[in-house]
Formats: sequence, C-alpha cells, structure tokens
Amino acid sequence: MDAPLERAKQAAAERAIAEVRPGERLALGTGSTAAHAVRALAARFPGGGFDCVASSEATAELARSLGIPVRDLRADDQFDRMIDGADEVDERLNLTKGGGGALLREKLLAELSSQVVIVVDPTKLVRRLGERSPIPVEVVPFAAPMLEHAFAREGFTVQLRRRDDRQPFRTDNGNHLLDLRPAQPLEDPRRTASEIEGRTGVVEVGVFVGLASRVFVGFPDGRVDERRPPV
Ligand code: A5P
Repeated sequence: MDAPLERAKQAAAERAIAEVRPGERLALGTGSTAAHAVRALAARFPGGGFDCVASSEATAELARSLGIPVRDLRADDQFDRMIDGADEVDERLNLTKGGGGALLREKLLAELSSQVVIVVDPTKLVRRLGERSPIPVEVVPFAAPMLEHAFAREGFTVQLRRRDDRQPFRTDNGNHLLDLRPAQPLEDPRRTASEIEGRTGVVEVGVFVGLASRVFVGFPDGRVDERRPPV
C-alpha cells in the first residue's frame, strides 16, 4: 500500500463526507477511494440514519460491516448525492471509471443522483481521457471474443480482464470486461463512448461525460482542492 496516496484518497473522501447531512439518500461508489468515504461516513455518523444503495456487492458488504444499512435499488429511486472514485478525471470533469468493475451500477446510480461527488488523488488528473487508464467496457460473455476482435480492428489495444487465477473477471452483473487502450487519448469522449455503446453485446462503457457535479482532489498533506465543471 502506498501510504501518501492513501492519505490523499482519505483526505478527499473525508471532505466529501463532511458535506453529508443526516437523512440523505446516498448512492455509494466502489473502489479504494470510495471505501475511504464509506469508512468516513460510518465514523462520522455511527448511528447510521441514511438511505443507502451501493454500486457493488463489495461496497454493500463493507458498508454493512460498518453498521450502514444498504438496500436494493427501487423503481422510483432518486439520490441526494453519490460519492464515488474515478480512474481518470479530465479538465471538463469527464471521467473514466470501472477499474473496479462496477461501471454499470455506478453509471446508473450517478444518473439517479442530484449531485455526483467524485473523490480522487492527484494521479487521476489527466488532460484527456485514455492518457492514463484503459477504457473499461462491460460486455455479455457470449459476445466478448467477437467484440475483442472488432475493437482491435478499430485500433484499440484490447485486453479481456482476468482475475488472479487467470479466469475471466465477472462483474456483479455476470458480464465480462474488455479494457480498451486507445491509440491516442480521446478527443471527443462522448462520441467515442457512443460508438462503443452502439455495438451489439456491449452493456456499458466506463466513460462518464457530464455526470460529475464536483471533484475533490486530495493530497498526502491533507489539502483538498475542489473542482467544478467549466460553465
Ligand atoms: C470502480 O468500478 C471504479 O469506477 C472506481 O471508482 C475507480 O476504479 C477508482 O478506484 P480507486 O479509488 O480504487 O482508484
């Protein structure tokens, strides 16, 4: 574990949790920074008192272990706030997400949230998406070999995500993930995302355009910068 990086993530997460008010309807993100936020939430409000839905089984398990009840998504759900991490944040606050494999549920919950607060350490800041991280694409297993081939033909370097035992990684939805490295960072993330999504067999793409309301960037010394999307 990289201690300065963990301190940076924790600082961002604690800042986001400092704004949470009791009784809020919360969507909980996934990943190591979102996990800091869940721990900070439990520490700040030991009695709970939130209405929470989690974007992954892992986050739900962590939250419950800390005394935060988590329920399933309902038909009419709307959230006051989602707090989540990201793999990349560009200058317009577009995001690459899905390093933890939870992109589909994360995007769904983000779309249902009045505010989407993203918590990151400074290594996640990029000029353009695709500079640092691959673009995760959730695909149905039946279509994975065909899509792997098709994306490679379009110029992406494609990897089927695997677990440590080399078996294909399965998302919480039972799907596979293809990690796409573009030849160049993305000029137009919205267009690339919609081209990828347009293929039969693709379930979701980990490019989040225009969904982040604010980004908190934490630093190892405890400082936190707040960023908002350009107007
Ligand atoms: C989970 O699927 C992701 O979208 C995470 O939010 C993202 O990978 C960031 O994770 P870390 O906070 O662990 O870097």
